[in-house]
Amino acid sequence: MLDMTEHETYIETAQHAAREAGTVLLHHLGNLREIEVKNQQQFNLVTEADRNAERRIVDILLEAFPGHGILGEEGGAHNIGASHRWIIDPLDGTTNYTHAFPIFSISIALERDGELLAGVIHDPVRDELFHAARGAGAFLNGKRIHVSDISRIEKAMLVTGFPYNIRENPDYCYERFIGFLKEAQAIRRLGSAALDCAYVAAGRLDGFWEVALQPWDKAAGHLLIEEAGGRVSDFAGAPHDIHQPPFLGSNGRIHDDMLRVLEEAKSLVITMKARE
Ligand code: IPD
Ligand code: CA
Ligand code: CA
Repeated sequence: MLDMTEHETYIETAQHAAREAGTVLLHHLGNLREIEVKNQQQFNLVTEADRNAERRIVDILLEAFPGHGILGEEGGAHNIGASHRWIIDPLDGTTNYTHAFPIFSISIALERDGELLAGVIHDPVRDELFHAARGAGAFLNGKRIHVSDISRIEKAMLVTGFPYNIRENPDYCYERFIGFLKEAQAIRRLGSAALDCAYVAAGRLDGFWEVALQPWDKAAGHLLIEEAGGRVSDFAGAPHDIHQPPFLGSNGRIHDDMLRVLEEAKSLVITMKARE
């Protein structure tokens, strides 16, 4: 557990940075000059909103904590090797954002020597600010949140996302999606992994799986789910490492069932035309 004033300073600064980035994103929403592709991947987009939001966040964090490290999606690496490091996704849900589809978020997490200490996820459209600090719980707009108490997968509403390179590397995405379609009450695909995690933490969704996420997509979300009483792991049930791609987060009660479906789905034979 963090010292009270220490963690409050981290959380307050990250919340301020997330709100400022939210203002940047709302400013550009529906009003983009250019949409570029990233790393020559046709479906992986980046905009001036992503870059401007990240710049604003990094400026605020480094002004408050000049010795801290930064790992930002849009290239912001500073103070490599520092014990404290901020992990930033300035716009999680860029594809939604480029369509002015109002589901996207800002995700900011702090780790110390590899341990997650604090996390903030902000949805500027709904004015929802989620935060968690290790050992101190998870909150939405200052009110304590908890995972759901759904204990059967057939009563569960799940969420997932798909990697941009799914066409070249399907990695059992289709099989697992069908596996969960057969067992869960419903599946959603929101388009923002950070919000997927925040909604599991808040009990709005019961579980979230995605095969290939980056640290900035899920660092804050990982802590939020754990601090809200849920469970996080890889696809084999081992502790989740934010630097490893597969992510499974749930209310804990349906976690073993989700692990079973993830494994069993690998032997499904998909004969759809689209899969050939
Ligand atoms: C993406 C979103 C999406 C998930 C992708 C991520 P981005 O992040 O979180 O929901 O399915 O895997 O890459 O590119 O919008 O920051
Ligand atoms: Ca992201
Ligand atoms: Ca992003």
